[in-house]
Amino acid sequence: MTLQALRGTTDLFGEAARRWWALERTIRRLARLSGYEEVRTPILEEAALFLRSVGETTDIVQKEMFQFEDRGGHQIVLRPEGTAPIVRAYLEHHLDKTIGLAKLFYTGPMFRAERPQAGRYRQFHQYGVEAIGSSSPWVDVEVIVLCQQMLRHCGVEPIRVWLTSMGCRDDQARSAAQLRQRLAPHRDQLCKECQARMDKNVFRVLDCKHPTCRAIAWKDLHTPFVLCQACREHFDTVRRGLTAAQVGFDDTQVFARGLDYYTRTVFEVRAEGLGAQDAVAAGGRYDHLVEELGGPSVGAVGFAAGIERILLAAHPTVADTPPSRQGVYLAIAQPGLVDQAFALVQQLRHNGVLARMDSDGKSLKAQLREADKMGCRAVAVFGEQELQQGTINVKDLERGTQHTIPLESFAAALAKELKPTCHV
Ligand code: HAM
Repeated sequence: MTLQALRGTTDLFGEAARRWWALERTIRRLARLSGYEEVRTPILEEAALFLRSVGETTDIVQKEMFQFEDRGGHQIVLRPEGTAPIVRAYLEHHLDKTIGLAKLFYTGPMFRAERPQAGRYRQFHQYGVEAIGSSSPWVDVEVIVLCQQMLRHCGVEPIRVWLTSMGCRDDQARSAAQLRQRLAPHRDQLCKECQARMDKNVFRVLDCKHPTCRAIAWKDLHTPFVLCQACREHFDTVRRGLTAAQVGFDDTQVFARGLDYYTRTVFEVRAEGLGAQDAVAAGGRYDHLVEELGGPSVGAVGFAAGIERILLAAHPTVADTPPSRQGVYLAIAQPGLVDQAFALVQQLRHNGVLARMDSDGKSLKAQLREADKMGCRAVAVFGEQELQQGTINVKDLERGTQHTIPLESFAAALAKELKPTCHV
């Protein structure tokens, strides 16, 4: 029996891999334009990092982490998200002391043991940005604008941006007390888990998937959060900034983020046509996380987007229109010429031309068939005759034309002709 990829994980190849690559190139460019530097953190982290950041009572920590004990007895997890590792790295490398506002960008696999379905995987991929070191609402605006811009450039349109403010920690304590009071008369109807949540972290009742709990928790809920004057002003500035930047948003929707570290601004971006898993990106402010992980008291804000969901929702963009024929196939007329052919192929690659050749001694006819099947733009037959004459004939398979080039300038000439269409 052949083995298969684990449930909730996928192999990426061919056209899908090319779309992925184009997406990463697009978002990297946009991140750099806004001043974000790439950081790559390990996939493995200590479990304690997520217990202290995402929160002990969240579904992610309680039910979804891939966790194991290593040989040294340490509790290790496959990271379920990117924000906590970025803050850990920010502190470990003393960026708090060297950069005023650290603007960091990341992309990579994340792991959550959720029930797999369309748009929900156990190994999925996020890209995201984190701006650490400022409490200014204008950084919230910049992050949300960048989030929208990246999605648009990836072909995800239209989108709906849900925006709210969860207030500061004091506001959250007051809001929690209110929510607890609202739920108290229905306590017995809630599931056992939610009854425990009411005492430990009442906001998590809002995440419960149980229909009765949902109905009770969300009934007539205008907003779970009451805001102090400073948080209201912060939120007003964010809304003003987004309006000025012409980013549409909906601040009437009630939603709860499933991670504990948020304060003030939070947002979720939804795309059409994705069914139940329609959140393509989400983020917000987390003004206490740096301090809670042992650093100074500095504000921070960021977002992460799900790459699989973006590719499901994306309309074709220029970046991923199927490539026309690409590169050149050097067909070998006599098997004894493999060495020279190989050298020519290397020259082509050195000049930036996608170049292919056969290494298995196929007949010339089979090589020409293969060139066509592989979608090569041009094919050049290399043999004794070409060596003697010092020229080589290049057939353009797209246009159906052919021309002859001196062998000594073969690579440079093809680089000129083919390079603009050679997106590897
Ligand atoms: P999150 O809402 O848990 O936030 O995830 C962000 C995005 O990752 C989601 O909107 C979705 O597109 C994608 N995603 C999450 N889980 C899955 C899954 N099982 N399968 C496929 N895609 C998934 C965070 O992770 C926060 N770290 C965001 C953030 C950054 N907040 C501040 N900075």
